[in-house]
Amino acid sequence: MPARTRYALAAAVVLALGAALLSQLPAGTFGRRAPPAVETPELAAQGKRVLTQQCWHCHREIPLAPRVAGWDAPRAYEALGRLPELNPAMPPFRGTDADRRALAAYLAALAAGRAP
Ligand code: HEC
Repeated sequence: MPARTRYALAAAVVLALGAALLSQLPAGTFGRRAPPAVETPELAAQGKRVLTQQCWHCHREIPLAPRVAGWDAPRAYEALGRLPELNPAMPPFRGTDADRRALAAYLAALAAGRAP
């Protein structure tokens, strides 16, 4: 096989491996877009548990419904990424991306008056 063909084959293999590896990385890496957060009753119910664990010790006293008025799930998801910026009293959200999406669904449901 001529050297040029061998180089071309090697380059193709490297590219294919790179593409395969990239597809295994979490969405959001290198600017790849994660799907937008959505609100479903199941997610909202999960999100209520996340809220109980991470927010309730403060927000039992500080009602959240008026503070998330008008928020949809993508807006809530975005806000959860910068809680200390919204209010310096708040610690950063600690949890998996799935927890964050569930909590965003709960907050959107709360905003719309249909929280589980
Ligand atoms: C250490 C206590 C504490 C914890 C924990 C906490 N918060 Fe807060 N949060 C606050 C305080 C204080 C405010 C400001 C309340 C005010 O004066 O309006 C606030 C405000 C907010 C607001 C309104 C922000 C705005 O734009 O004005 C949202 C939304 C919120 N919290 C969501 C959450 C969520 C969701 C969690 C759990 C992941 C959480 N907080 C955990 C103390 C806390």
